[in-house]
Amino acid sequence: MLKPHLAQSPRDSDFVQNPYPFYAQLHAAGGVIWWDDYKMLVFGRFAAVNAILRDRRFGRAPLTAITPPAHLTTFYEYENRSMLELEGAAHRRLRSLVTRAFVSRRIDGMRPRIEALAHELLDRVEAAGQTNLLTTFCEPIPVIIIAELLGLPASAAPNLLRWSHAMVAMYQFGRDRAVEDEAEAATKAFFAYIEGEVALRRAAPREDLLTLLTQPDEKGEVLADADIITTAVLILNAGHEATVHALGNGVKALLETGARPDGEDAVGEEILRYDPPLHMFTRYVYEDMTISGAPLRRGQMIGLSLGAATRDPGRFDQPDEFMPDRFDPGHVSFGAGAHFCLGAPLARLEMQVALPILFERLPGLRLAATPRCADRYHFRGLERLEVAWS
Ligand code: HEM
Repeated sequence: MLKPHLAQSPRDSDFVQNPYPFYAQLHAAGGVIWWDDYKMLVFGRFAAVNAILRDRRFGRAPLTAITPPAHLTTFYEYENRSMLELEGAAHRRLRSLVTRAFVSRRIDGMRPRIEALAHELLDRVEAAGQTNLLTTFCEPIPVIIIAELLGLPASAAPNLLRWSHAMVAMYQFGRDRAVEDEAEAATKAFFAYIEGEVALRRAAPREDLLTLLTQPDEKGEVLADADIITTAVLILNAGHEATVHALGNGVKALLETGARPDGEDAVGEEILRYDPPLHMFTRYVYEDMTISGAPLRRGQMIGLSLGAATRDPGRFDQPDEFMPDRFDPGHVSFGAGAHFCLGAPLARLEMQVALPILFERLPGLRLAATPRCADRYHFRGLERLEVAWS
């Protein structure tokens, strides 16, 4: 059955500010559409998105390797080794070697450091009575925490941010040659930096995650240097890009609705459901089949709209309402299945710790300007978050 076509530029300003009316159209059209601008079939119903993410007949790796253009050799060297882009045995092996570094004991152990950092950052702005919270609070927390977890100093944060922004811009709709050149240069600089840090740890092991990545696991398996470097870069990039905006979108939702964080799980989960920081992921189809009445061909790429799935009226009661006590961690904002977010416990902890401290320390916190989203779809995050308090 042919699916309805919908046209919607992901660069359109109204859409960037509020994509949810378009997702309502997607649901009204039956939950599967041909999105003209992406030239791709896109699924938006929660049940279909959740099922496809868990279905091994779909994957992130293309069926035939893509030959990268010469100006993106290093960037694709990264992509092709990244756990996020692998499937099957290669993915499982890398993921299990990295998972040991993310055991809950190690993540829970970060709680006091996140608390101290949140206080430190607020100490710096408290007297001013106003700030752009995105750069003074939401950004430094995840960046510094993920850097320190790997064993890199907080002073590396500005470089990590710069390289990471340049690399993840490759996943934005409508990238151009300038974006590609910057991503390639950033990947080279990032690789060189991590390579040096890995060499230091081989010479003198430390108590950090980067050292752990250089050591054999209990079966004696070791990661090749190129895998260690790629994985460290993936963890550093994935470790903050989304969490920064989960915090920013969360503060915005809380201030707009008057709800307050409680230090429990419910508010964080509702923030991630209501306004997730990542809206669209793709999958390749590995077998011919029909799903939700849509015939799919082997090799075809499809889109999964996480942003639409978390607002599906068939799954969530009053999906457009922000309900801080909803408690429904079954959203798909962290994905599902084999690639389920490795950093979900860390991101959840950061939100759970940082948000209550922010509201306790700055009573009377309010928006000082209407926050606007950055034109970076599929990323959903604010440009600035100007707030004031008395
Ligand atoms: C609120 C913050 C976050 C959100 C919304 C988020 C979301 C996601 C999603 C949707 C995926 C799956 C992509 C797919 O299936 O195609 C993913 C994968 C991943 N995330 Fe996160 N993430 C967040 C924070 C983090 C953090 C803090 C880390 C830190 C280490 C992290 C590391 C990863 C890694 C390594 C993967 C790849 C896993 C694999 O391929 O097996 N993420 N994330």
